[in-house]
Amino acid sequence: MRTLIANGIVVTAEGSSGADVLVDGEQIALIGRDLAATGVTADESIDARGKYLIPGAIDVHTHMELPFGGTFAKDTFETGTRAAAFGGTTTIVDFAVQSRGKSLREGLDAWHAKAEGNAVADYGFHMIMSDVNDETLAEMDTLVAEGVPDFKLFTAYPGVFFSDDGAIFRALQQTAKNGGLIMMHAENGLAIDIVAAQFADSGKTDPYYHGVVRYPIFEGEATNRVIRLAEAAGVPVYIVHLSARDALNEVRAARDRGAMTFAETCPQYLFLSLDDMGHGFEGAKFVCSPPLRPKDHQEELWSGLRKDDLQVVSTDHCPFDFHGQKDLGKDDFRKVPNGLPGVEDRVDLLHDGGVVAGRLTRERWVEVLSTAPARMFGLYPRKGAIAVGSDADLVVYDPGRKHTISAKTHHMNVDYSCYEGRAVQGGSDVVLSRGSVIVRDGEFTGRKGHGQFLKRGLSPALRQS
Ligand code: URP
Ligand code: ZN
Ligand code: ZN
Repeated sequence: MRTLIANGIVVTAEGSSGADVLVDGEQIALIGRDLAATGVTADESIDARGKYLIPGAIDVHTHMELPFGGTFAKDTFETGTRAAAFGGTTTIVDFAVQSRGKSLREGLDAWHAKAEGNAVADYGFHMIMSDVNDETLAEMDTLVAEGVPDFKLFTAYPGVFFSDDGAIFRALQQTAKNGGLIMMHAENGLAIDIVAAQFADSGKTDPYYHGVVRYPIFEGEATNRVIRLAEAAGVPVYIVHLSARDALNEVRAARDRGAMTFAETCPQYLFLSLDDMGHGFEGAKFVCSPPLRPKDHQEELWSGLRKDDLQVVSTDHCPFDFHGQKDLGKDDFRKVPNGLPGVEDRVDLLHDGGVVAGRLTRERWVEVLSTAPARMFGLYPRKGAIAVGSDADLVVYDPGRKHTISAKTHHMNVDYSCYEGRAVQGGSDVVLSRGSVIVRDGEFTGRKGHGQFLKRGLSPALRQS
């Protein structure tokens, strides 16, 4: 099957130009001007006049079916990758979970079983490590060889995912040997739990207080600590879901002194704020960790994206219904399952609030959503690029289309939207995954099981300062 996508503006991290793209089978075969006029033929032609042609977006932080607080994130690999595709995201990297006392292998096998035959677009895995011991450290090497080269550890969630500094340091040292990458959830969970208990004990139990007790300085402190530990081990570190100015300043300082420090932020920290949490129990819709911050942190994050102190925007997609899941914490904010839906909205939100609003160039938009995550997580140039030989994961994107985000029309399997009623400019018209059209003009044309596991390589770029 050959598909010719003609007349579009090809936008990549490197630049923009008018060009046609020929897809042959699953890959990009040819890029050039007026290909039809030069005799190129195809089985199907897609007219992209007036539209951008961008590499499929890559979301390197999702949690399909994550167990959390006595329940499970609602999207499956089928519903989650389908929703992602509607929003122009053609690859996800999800977090497999090692449960306490079990092996990494068991956790990874469980995630393979959830995804295989179900995903509609390609996927990879990182591994959440709940125990660091001789066995799990040895298993890390095996996982690296199997294409799962990143490991998330937490300074948050004591008693659940929390690791102490010694455990984190051992895991970092292991990546010095096996070339993997440690991803850190950096908030001081022990200190947070003290403040949270003090608030709850004094009757302050509304979801709003979730946002109050997790001080920005607790994120800044933990971010500095894990960066320093990584420097001591001589390895890179990647800070996930960075939300606060305090943490960004630590990342900036580290990068300025040449440390191999990398970080992502998420749309919720760019577009939502602590104010959204202050409407009674409705605030539970916005309970995530790190929490939404006061509004004045937002422009700092945008600036961090422009200056490359933040390299990636992912979603941390982790959807729980408002009715039946978030309300587990009706009487105590500490029991609200942590996480927000967002895998479908990231590309359009960043286009509207970034490109249209003049905060990001369209090339930087593509870079933070697709090319940088591909480079950082061992997918480039197979993904994240429009180049001959790359997978034909492509999005015909209409930069002028206006629509309103709503739970009534989104495809995520969750009963609310954090962005309900927000008008955005920009939308994905046609989405291809490895050469197959999986979304066309708002209709799903893909297939459950089309998505393949991506065995990812190491990223040497991470080890250059
Ligand atoms: O609130 C969040 N972020 N939930 C998902 C788990 C995590 O920490 O990433
Ligand atoms: Zn986290
Ligand atoms: Zn997460």
